[in-house]
Amino acid sequence: MDASITIKKLEFRRRMGTKMTYKKQLIMLPGPTNVPERVMNAMTKPIINHRGPEFRELYDSLLKKLRYAFQTKNDVFTLTSSGTGGVECAISNILSPGDKVLVPVNGVFSQRLKEKIETFGGSPIEIPVKWGAAATPDQIADAAEGQDVKAIAVVYNETSTGVTARVLNEIGKIAEEHDALYIVDAISILGGDELPVDKWGIDICIAGSQKCLACPPGLALISISGHAWEVIRQTRSKAYYFNLLKIQEFHERKETPFTPALTLWYALDEALTMLEEEGLEKRIKRHEECARAFYDAVREFGLEPFADEHWLSNTVIAVKNPPGITDKEIRDLMREKHGVVIAGGMGQLKGTMFRIGSMGIITGREVAATVQALRSSLEELGYFK
Ligand SMILES: Cc1ncc(COP(=O)(O)O)c(C=O)c1O
Repeated sequence: MDASITIKKLEFRRRMGTKMTYKKQLIMLPGPTNVPERVMNAMTKPIINHRGPEFRELYDSLLKKLRYAFQTKNDVFTLTSSGTGGVECAISNILSPGDKVLVPVNGVFSQRLKEKIETFGGSPIEIPVKWGAAATPDQIADAAEGQDVKAIAVVYNETSTGVTARVLNEIGKIAEEHDALYIVDAISILGGDELPVDKWGIDICIAGSQKCLACPPGLALISISGHAWEVIRQTRSKAYYFNLLKIQEFHERKETPFTPALTLWYALDEALTMLEEEGLEKRIKRHEECARAFYDAVREFGLEPFADEHWLSNTVIAVKNPPGITDKEIRDLMREKHGVVIAGGMGQLKGTMFRIGSMGIITGREVAATVQALRSSLEELGYFK
């Protein structure tokens, strides 16, 4: 190659402050997660007309597979946005000013859920819960008593603390008793743990593409029940991009109101095919086994999970920093020396923990590589002395 071109390229890279190349790493974050080659390759399909027959076929295929993943007969919509857009869509389409929404707050994402309720004029009734635990059905029933609650909104898997609220079924019954909508943020768990949406009476369930579904980031999935549609029609939200009435109107002709991220739709379709091939039950068991192996290893190292034993998540393994060692030191060594990428703490928990995403394609191989990288990094940092 002409030397001047090489020099220009190097100069450009220097100015950009990046090598502009990305090594393949083992991404053990609580999202995004590793994406199988099959799913990556699906994105190379040709672009099609999003108002043409091929898209309608894709729309049907995705809907069928999403119903399986959500275990629902309801419609499930694919939104071109990250998970936050899905939660905003739910909240902005059901709330009128002053509506009361019960929301347990036990971490960063449930805090954000509460903020969204406030943003759209709702009146959140916060149930403060220790970070590391989840609200019990009794706490929720007590808080709902005598209140005219429009909805109960729960984060199923609090990604910031590694807590799974394994009481969704019971909360669903409380929502039903109060004729309240039941909204569940399942962004970091759908496809990785039990979540029978219809059986548990969930009216609106939100998931993200980049977590347990092992798809790239960029899509939010949202299921809507008949009860939720009644409320949405009464509310007539002013939401524009995330307007569910408009989305429903286009759904009738198997289209979306605005241009969908076609390549991500291809990816999701393939990722959901893989989920169907494996079967939900097997997939959930795989997540459970991998999580158990992580917790066993962490304890063997003398480290402590952040969440209380009762609420330990099978998709996010949150671990307290060992005394005298920072998560940054551990994370940097794991990334630089072993090519394994894990996350730190969020919000008020920043600098106190590291978090490992055990999601999507996770198998014993990824667990072993991560545990080995963790062990070596701790050793190098003098932890085992
Ligand atoms: C439980 C939960 N809710 C909401 C979000 C926000 O999703 P996104 O970052 O895709 O907007 C996340 C992201 O990690 C999450 O884990």
